[in-house]
Amino acid sequence: MIRAFDAFSLPLLRWLDPEDAHRLAIQGLRLLPPMRPRPDDTKLAVRAFGLNFPNPVGMAAGFDKSAEVPDALLRLGFGFVEIGTVTPKPQAGNPRPRLFRLERDEAVINRMGFNNDGAEAVLRRLAARAHLGGIVGVNVGANKDSADRVADYVKLIETFAPVASYFTVNVSSPNTPGLRDLQQAKALDDLLARVVEARDRVQAKAGVTPVLLKIAPDLTLADLDDAVGVARKRGVNGMIVSNTTITRPGSLREREKAKEQGGLSGRPLFKLSTRMLAEEFVRAEGAFPLIGVGGIDSGAAAIAKIKAGATLVQLYTGLVYRGIGLVSEIKRDLVAALKRGKRTSLESMIGTDAAEMTAESWPG
Ligand SMILES: Cc1cc2nc3c(=O)[nH]c(=O)nc-3n(C[C@H](O)[C@H](O)[C@H](O)COP(=O)(O)O)c2cc1C
Repeated sequence: MIRAFDAFSLPLLRWLDPEDAHRLAIQGLRLLPPMRPRPDDTKLAVRAFGLNFPNPVGMAAGFDKSAEVPDALLRLGFGFVEIGTVTPKPQAGNPRPRLFRLERDEAVINRMGFNNDGAEAVLRRLAARAHLGGIVGVNVGANKDSADRVADYVKLIETFAPVASYFTVNVSSPNTPGLRDLQQAKALDDLLARVVEARDRVQAKAGVTPVLLKIAPDLTLADLDDAVGVARKRGVNGMIVSNTTITRPGSLREREKAKEQGGLSGRPLFKLSTRMLAEEFVRAEGAFPLIGVGGIDSGAAAIAKIKAGATLVQLYTGLVYRGIGLVSEIKRDLVAALKRGKRTSLESMIGTDAAEMTAESWPG
């Protein structure tokens, strides 16, 4: 059924303006019948951050920014869904056009600018579906016009703790001016201290909610050293590598569209984000698990992320070009790889290539 859906919908969605296509996809998912997903092979189960994931393939942040369709996404076979980025106040984001498909590169450039319905509306939706279970993470960020960005993160942690399976502290979006400065050691230390303190304060009521930090692939290795050091010191539960890149690899074929401002995602991000993941893995020294994201468009790409150090993976842009069938394809390929290697779980594959990858020349 999913294959038939993709065959019908992909050409149609690709013919539309990218943002209209995205809106239509969300509306379509709202209409998805409440079928039960096929249970995952038990070999795909992953335990991380104290949570039990039925499979390691997650929907990355930015697709369902306002938590309109998390359950439809779970029913389509994702092991977890990250909603957001949510900001305290509703926000319109940047003027359109702000989303561009680089067809021949199987890539996207976006400068959405945290358009979302705001904490109050998103909380209402998540509270209404809380009884359904499933892992739904909440990705949090600051409003563009905020006078105190750290206070925005703290407020969101307090608001969403009762309904979030985990939090992602997003300091890596290129589309809110100045946001990425929060990745610098001093600012990051202050932010994470206050976020973890807020999480611990509401813990008595909500239970412990894991806090993950999502970083950009454009950090220097010195900045990465600092970010990992601060995350470890502050007791963050995991990191997500990576957000979109502001760089434009020389290999891009859609030269005109590549000039659009914003973050690049999809296939051309794969090498850089996977290298950063490996760099992160060797620095984390097992202190916490990592989520690998950036350019996953096949089972082989997901396996490469795991071997670079990912315990879980997420994807977004791959769905635009491959359709929702990509999720089952990746899961099938993961099970096949486990069978071939006579392994009973993915755990023994995590980070096996990391050291070797960090010795290679830097991806250009
Ligand atoms: C249109 C679009 C919107 C996004 N919005 C967000 C966002 O709000 N918050 C966030 O942390 N990441 C956001 N991302 C980044 C993705 O979560 C992901 O890190 C990135 O796209 C790399 O994965 P991919 O190559 O599989 O798309 C967005 C990506 C795209 C394409």
